[in-house]
Amino acid sequence: MPNWLNDAVFYEIYPQSFYDSNGDGIGDIEGIIQKLDYVKGLGCNAIWLNPVYDSPFMDAGYDVRDYKKVAPRYGTNEDLVRLFEAAHAKGIRILLDLVPGHTSDQHPWFLEAKKAAENEYTNRYIFTKTVWDAPPEYRMMCGLCERDGNYMVNYFSSQPALNYGFYDVTHPEWQLPSDHPDCQKTVDAIKDIMRFWMDKGADGFRVDMADSLVKNDDEKIATAKIWRSVREMMDAEYPDCAMVSEWCSPERSINNAGFHMDFYLDHYGNGYSRLFRFGEWGDLAVFNKNGKGNLKAFTDEYLPNYNRTKENGYICFITNNHDMPRVTAYLDKQAIKLVNAFIFTMPGVPFLYYGDEIGMRYQKELVSKEGGYSRTGSRTPMQWNSGKNLGFSESDEPYLPVDRNADAPTVENQKDDPDSIYRVVTDMIALRHKYADLHGNGELEFMTDGSSLPFAYRRGDMVMYFNPTGEYFEIDTRYNGDVVYKIGQAEIADGKIKMQPQSFLLVNA
Ligand code: NOJ
Repeated sequence: MPNWLNDAVFYEIYPQSFYDSNGDGIGDIEGIIQKLDYVKGLGCNAIWLNPVYDSPFMDAGYDVRDYKKVAPRYGTNEDLVRLFEAAHAKGIRILLDLVPGHTSDQHPWFLEAKKAAENEYTNRYIFTKTVWDAPPEYRMMCGLCERDGNYMVNYFSSQPALNYGFYDVTHPEWQLPSDHPDCQKTVDAIKDIMRFWMDKGADGFRVDMADSLVKNDDEKIATAKIWRSVREMMDAEYPDCAMVSEWCSPERSINNAGFHMDFYLDHYGNGYSRLFRFGEWGDLAVFNKNGKGNLKAFTDEYLPNYNRTKENGYICFITNNHDMPRVTAYLDKQAIKLVNAFIFTMPGVPFLYYGDEIGMRYQKELVSKEGGYSRTGSRTPMQWNSGKNLGFSESDEPYLPVDRNADAPTVENQKDDPDSIYRVVTDMIALRHKYADLHGNGELEFMTDGSSLPFAYRRGDMVMYFNPTGEYFEIDTRYNGDVVYKIGQAEIADGKIKMQPQSFLLVNA
């Protein structure tokens, strides 16, 4: 296990929207290099970079046309290597995005696979035996190729599924078992891509749809076996590199598949969604001040998962990502401050999505861009200052519009404001680094059972009290100690924690 993960705080960068250094309207790698000091200033010591590979951008780059080539709009492979080097010089690691489940339908492998004549790539994707065979239980594209067969897609129609075989083979005339040599070749091809970038300086990968490899693999047994072999390769050849899975099933991902980290994602009704986004635009969220949230629905799910996986890896809390509405769509500013206090004091490895540190808004009404659809509103350009396109780009046609409201948050107008979300985010990250009890490995004990609000948890000597509600509360406590940090009005007095509405207290007991 790479040691650095214990104190890692990640920053997710959506490259097309971060900083445009050459005025063409699209963020680029040189732009990220120029902003590394900013990332470091937040206290982040690692970056997850969304896909930067050559792509027709039907799904914002998750439709890869060439895994080994940086998309020209972002720069060159040499620029990416320069980014690795510049980041490392500042103590920042970089995880690239690995998309192993599918490629673009423009990928050379697929262009070969769809030919009638058999060739090296005939089994790289999943084709039925003839076009007259399209079992409804699979998502098939029909009648589009010279080859007499339909192909399975993994996500959008432009993303044919790579072939890792089937665990339960129900149609042997076209489904390969996952141990078929041609399926092994797909695994080898993915390992080859990983080595290619780790040899150039990448520190590992965020793995897209990590659970999607082997089909008809309900328990994910064969899929986990593939990732185990990837982990063995990393342990042997790149022991300081790490992988985080888009899976949201920590026992499978961390314990079985060997991922170092697994994201806690926003699946409606699950523990994570209960915290910040549940109900009609958050009206049933734990952090909504109306106090209607159900923390127990979170603790009942999270704590068993945490206890069963904590020796092997990390569950990752995210402020948001590029796939869901920013939390500003759900909660008020004071609540968002408490959200950040929570995310940066929990075990595991936290991820901050670009722009969340200044409370960027989710822009609801935008027309879809590059397969974003409802996600587009969370992918708008980073807001740096009061300049043209809020400092993102000199172009008259930026990738997406920036927030047009007069009070749009920017780094410039938030940075020195003591009442800003930026202040809480940077303070909390600094405290996380300062106190070992708050690192990824530290212990966690909930002091309230979750059935009512407010709530509290302890990590070593550090005790966190949260009153996310709109009412005043007093909590009996067995802990005294020094108040290290507070949000809103809260104090320890007369053996009690006295908490005004929407407040947080961090005590070193
Ligand atoms: C998950 C990614 O986060 C999302 O943006 C993408 O569209 C799908 N996987 C398909 O690759």
